[in-house]
Amino acid sequence: MIIDGRMVAGKRLDLVRKQVDESGVQPCLATVLIGEDPGSKMYVRMKHEACEKVHIVSVKACLPATATTMEVLAKIRELNNDPSINGILVQLPLPLQVETSRVIQAVAPEKDVDGFHPCNIGLLYAGTPRFAPCTPKGVMTLLDAYNIPIQGARTLIAGRSIDVGRPMAALLLHRDATITIAHSKTRNLKDEMRRADIVVSAVGKARFITSDMIKPGAVVIDVGINYLDGKLCGDVDFDQVKDVAGAITPVPGGVGPMTIASLMENTYLAAVERSCTNVS
Ligand SMILES: NC(=O)c1ccc[n+]([C@@H]2O[C@H](COP(=O)([O-])OP(=O)(O)OC[C@H]3O[C@@H](n4cnc5c(N)ncnc54)[C@H](OP(=O)(O)O)[C@@H]3O)[C@@H](O)[C@H]2O)c1
Repeated sequence: MIIDGRMVAGKRLDLVRKQVDESGVQPCLATVLIGEDPGSKMYVRMKHEACEKVHIVSVKACLPATATTMEVLAKIRELNNDPSINGILVQLPLPLQVETSRVIQAVAPEKDVDGFHPCNIGLLYAGTPRFAPCTPKGVMTLLDAYNIPIQGARTLIAGRSIDVGRPMAALLLHRDATITIAHSKTRNLKDEMRRADIVVSAVGKARFITSDMIKPGAVVIDVGINYLDGKLCGDVDFDQVKDVAGAITPVPGGVGPMTIASLMENTYLAAVERSCTNVS
């Protein structure tokens, strides 16, 4: 079975638009783009397009590639203090001279729709997520959309980054999966992976996962975004692995669209939470 992220994301976006239209709140997302990286510009553009689709207002703050940490922090403060803005998304990665952790920590936790602020990470690990990071949240939505059993499932997550691997583990653990997190120092990755009912790969290496690493019938979720010979591909060698896996996400068209749908969901949630706070 090919897991169709575009289709599921489309349905989620329709739902967010309906919720926005019926809620009486007007969510607003601010994106912060620093520099001219073409990939970052493309992602920011896609996020603004999604906002338009779901009737979320969006504003863009652009800073030059030479911006200092202080200049970025000043912009974040301005957005934090603007009551018309519910969500702030800082497009990563940042230029080398900008201290990423300071920038992430400067975003007001209640506007941190990416879910990277330590407060939101803490809530996630406490089992009471406010804004779960968008990519792992999107993976959970995909698994649920296809009724993939999670409770008790032996799950291997390849990659332990703060934005994907670790929050993915927290969300799956919260749903009673049995988790193994693999990383670059993991020994016998193939043996570890072959035991898993669900594999989530967030390594960032083209066609790194081959069919001999997958248990027949396992669910394979490919988060990776890589380019090989100028073509977009995931971490999984899709053509091989699709014949062994029970279900698999393609790249493109799998996890990517879900990340954006989750961002829209988080922005809507932030707006609703804020409107409730204003009432009380
Ligand atoms: N689809 C989406 O919306 C979306 C969103 C975010 C990211 N991505 C993509 O997902 C991929 C991962 O992103 P990221 O931000 O998590 O990357 P990252 O911060 O570079 O993390 C990569 C992880 O892979 C691990 N790793 C490297 N080589 C390995 C190996 N041989 N065996 C097992 N693990 C290995 C690393 O281990 P160490 O910790 O030991 O170094 C690290 O934990 C990238 O391709 C990125 O573009 C996609």
